[in-house]
Amino acid sequence: MQVSKLMWRDPATLDVSQPHAEGNAVDASRPDGYVLELREVSKSFGGIPALSDVNFNVRPGEVVAVIGENGAGKSTLMKIISGVYPTDSYQGELLLDGRPARFRTVRDAEAAGIVLVPQELYIAPNLSIAENMFMGMLPSRRGFVDEAKLFTLAMERLAFFGVQANPNASVGELSPSAQRLVTIASALSKAATRVLILDEPTASLTQGEAVHLFERIAQIKAQNVGCIYITHRLDEIAQVADRVVVMRNGRVVEHFASAQDKISDMVRAMIGHDPEPSTPRVLNERAAAVLTVSNLSVHEGFGSKRCRVDNVSLELRRGEVLGLFGLVGAGRTELAKAIFGAWQGTCEGEIRIDGERVHPRSPAEAISLGIGMLTEDRKQTGLIEGHSVLHNISAASIRSVSSGPFIRERDEVDRNRELIRKLDLRPPRLDAKVEWFSGGNQQKVLLARWIAIRPRILIVDEPTYGVDIGARQEIYRLLHELAAEGTAVLMISSDMTEILDESDRVLVMYKGRVTQSFDRKASRHELMAAATGEIH
Ligand SMILES: Nc1ncnc2c1ncn2[C@@H]1O[C@H](COP(=O)(O)OP(=O)(O)OP(=O)(O)O)[C@@H](O)[C@H]1O
Ligand SMILES: [Mg+2]
Repeated sequence: MQVSKLMWRDPATLDVSQPHAEGNAVDASRPDGYVLELREVSKSFGGIPALSDVNFNVRPGEVVAVIGENGAGKSTLMKIISGVYPTDSYQGELLLDGRPARFRTVRDAEAAGIVLVPQELYIAPNLSIAENMFMGMLPSRRGFVDEAKLFTLAMERLAFFGVQANPNASVGELSPSAQRLVTIASALSKAATRVLILDEPTASLTQGEAVHLFERIAQIKAQNVGCIYITHRLDEIAQVADRVVVMRNGRVVEHFASAQDKISDMVRAMIGHDPEPSTPRVLNERAAAVLTVSNLSVHEGFGSKRCRVDNVSLELRRGEVLGLFGLVGAGRTELAKAIFGAWQGTCEGEIRIDGERVHPRSPAEAISLGIGMLTEDRKQTGLIEGHSVLHNISAASIRSVSSGPFIRERDEVDRNRELIRKLDLRPPRLDAKVEWFSGGNQQKVLLARWIAIRPRILIVDEPTYGVDIGARQEIYRLLHELAAEGTAVLMISSDMTEILDESDRVLVMYKGRVTQSFDRKASRHELMAAATGEIH
């Protein structure tokens, strides 16, 4: 592979174990010592303010957590800091080491040492892991990419972040969590990092992976890098951050000088009032099975002997929420895809819906059988970018608002308007393009799509990924409401609290097999033991 000279930058000067120590000394002559400071920053989209008079700062070697509801303005603020939105597109000042900085592009910000790992991943699925990591700065020898060096560098960096993968494998084969770790690893491969921004890095990570990431952040921070850490998982703040900034409606509304402060106080600051208590629900215990899966094996590809799901049997009953817990790679998504007709590979075994044998060979067939599936990566398999919320919601259910070949537009609008009202989509606009919405609100649009098909079986894969604490309760309420109306819900999640609090029964998978099933409330320890193969 030949690369243009412009793309070269030699990553050999980077040292993984000592991330970018040079140039990060604190300027002792400056009493405030901020590496980054924003003064009175405002930005609006089409006349609607997204940020208003934001003041914000980061010191070298500290981790500042930024929290706030979906649409509060967190990602917008980070995009300003990292040059995604150029200086001329907002009001206010951005200072680096006390000096005004003007960024026209992300490259400008990167050159100044600001690195953003965005909420939504931008990977090139057909390139290798190593190529993705060093895109734009491939090591070269006489105009050719130095493959051996690329391999070694990528190996080192992957090991630092605990990803066990061959750098030459295509990145599309990695799980979303491994892809995220690769993105973080590659972000840190760029120039001398002064400010590292992580926008919801743990949204698709398991607890173990998250802990591993926190250890890496501590190391990076020890090199005097200032970190900004956005999360909806408030329980991890105390582990990773030094202080907390709360945003609401485009403003910074509160500071917590210590990340050890009470989570309930942070929640109150985020939503502006006390959270409403959740109501315990009553189970419908003797319901009949809607979905029966018997001896299902899901092979890695067509004709491959290796199985991602190995001889799994399960029963999903009408009106229940069945939690499916496991670590990344346990086979949960593969199982779900096989049921939804979306698995690209051989599936053996039997699937029955209401006792009748079915063979969903495509998502379209599965949908016509009454199965819906909210996938875990909204960017790649969910959202239809460039289209309105209205169309995104209707994508799987256009037949239910059509007469013959004609769409009954009035019915479509009415139904979808009711759905966004129920889901509290913000802003509640059907005509707006889906990419204008914040991450959590995009997730609501996708959920609306599946509710619109009135599914008999709804599979949700990490349903609250990137969703704020208030909207999360809304999503749980909706899932339970669907269940109460008779839908059978299969909820895949790596979030133990979600699994324990929101499921009626729980199945745990480990290495492609169901290792345990809990009809009663399991303990965290029991779940983890089953998910790590301690129980067979
Ligand atoms: N490109 C855009 N065009 C129009 N409006 C936008 C655009 N990007 C963001 N917005 C709006 O700006 C507001 C802030 O969005 P932002 O993505 O910053 O929220 P967030 O705090 O990151 O939320 P989340 O937790 O859901 O990721 C939202 O109301 C959003 O709809
Ligand atoms: Mg965001």
